[in-house]
Amino acid sequence: MIKKKNNKDLSKLNTFGMKVRAACYLEYDNPSDLASMPWDELAKPLLQIGSGSNLLFCSDFPGTVMRSRIDLFELLQDRSVGDDVYIRAGAGMEMDELCRICAGKGWWGLENLSGIPGTVGASAVQNVGAYGVEAGELIESVDCYDIVGRRFVTFSAADCAFAYRDSFFKHNKGRYIVVSVVFHLYRDFRPRLDYAHLQEEVERNAELIMADTDPYSPLLTGQGVRQPITPLLVRQTVMIIREKKLPAVGKVGSAGSFFKNPVVSAEQFESVCAIAAAKEAPCNRTDGKQNAVASDSTDGGQATEEKGVPCNRADGKQNAVACDSTNGGQATEGKGVPCTRAEGEQTPEAGKVPHYTLDNGEIKIPAAWLIDSCGLKGARFGGASLWHSQPLVIVNSSGNALPSDIIALENHIIDTVQATYGITLSPEVEHI
Ligand code: EPU
Repeated sequence: MIKKKNNKDLSKLNTFGMKVRAACYLEYDNPSDLASMPWDELAKPLLQIGSGSNLLFCSDFPGTVMRSRIDLFELLQDRSVGDDVYIRAGAGMEMDELCRICAGKGWWGLENLSGIPGTVGASAVQNVGAYGVEAGELIESVDCYDIVGRRFVTFSAADCAFAYRDSFFKHNKGRYIVVSVVFHLYRDFRPRLDYAHLQEEVERNAELIMADTDPYSPLLTGQGVRQPITPLLVRQTVMIIREKKLPAVGKVGSAGSFFKNPVVSAEQFESVCAIAAAKEAPCNRTDGKQNAVASDSTDGGQATEEKGVPCNRADGKQNAVACDSTNGGQATEGKGVPCTRAEGEQTPEAGKVPHYTLDNGEIKIPAAWLIDSCGLKGARFGGASLWHSQPLVIVNSSGNALPSDIIALENHIIDTVQATYGITLSPEVEHI
């Protein structure tokens, strides 16, 4: 069934909570609705959304916003033999619901992707990833409706050209609408625990989590009998980690990671290490001011001795520099933000730049680290700010942030990281 509404308020349809409207909005819950859709009559452009969890609406949308409510879930019996499990999930199903069902059934594959906001359809377009697993690794094929050819088509995983937060679909927006996705999962023990401290955390939780706790809010009672490592235990662990680091979806407006982790050459990486080592010299001033930042976007690269933020950190590092360069003369909240790093939280170490070396020798650097080491933690603009425990996430902290607040903060971050490290961050969030 197709439901249509004109002049639709989109504030509950984007997780950033931007108060914008669409000229036309429609929902459909059956693949056949796509075949019968009056395509020529719909206000253009068309925009397909999932849960609106990776979008920044910069203004009202003049065309038609479409949302899939196709939430089918099907075990492909004939192909699911031995270790192999094949499932087909509707594009409109919440990705986390799929992860919950599959982990609950003991099928390996999707558990590391637990807690990611968004729908199954978006997971294929965006190739979502977390804790060492990307959706594309588990996708067997993607069923789509081709708006141009007016027919259903199926793409194999190879056709989808999955790459880091990228796919064939991202480059063919407006033509293909994801209808459903076939995932290849496994029955045999196959945990993927190679990401950072995931293994340790899973082992720890194996001691602590009671077998019968609610996977949505696991109780760390400490009274459980050691649990075997199961997809559900990995799911619970991932959700606990996410809860500590990321803003609660539905409570704080955000779109998850705002930037992609940049990939640089070995040469550029060396330069980042050298800048980081020079920049992160311990705070050794006696005048109550912080050390100069080697290169800062607000002063054309000169040292910024007069920022006026007293050096009050116990960890020998400099304070964060407040967001003050991109406001075009407007008032900036949070200027002079004190150091807010909680005890035990990761701190950027002098010269120790976290990184992952890719197969082709290029190096991926966490954008969170680059942002943090530029002293941007706590930066804010109007109603938007950087999340305290994961500075890769911009949040609508006031609940009333305007798209322009978020864009101003985004530009400030890009400019500061560029001026400091010579790296241009690219947004992961799609600007509409
Ligand atoms: N870091 C800091 N300061 C901080 C926080 C982190 O320097 O305050 C550094 C640390 O060195 C840390 C590193 O950043 O080791 C990486 O942090 P994290 O493990 O949280 O991962 P990420 O690279 O920042 C990516 C995804 C997340 C996903 C996590 C976990 C991207 C753009 N983001 O973040 O995805 O949850 O890995 O796998 O790849 C999302 O896409 O919306 C998202 C949240």
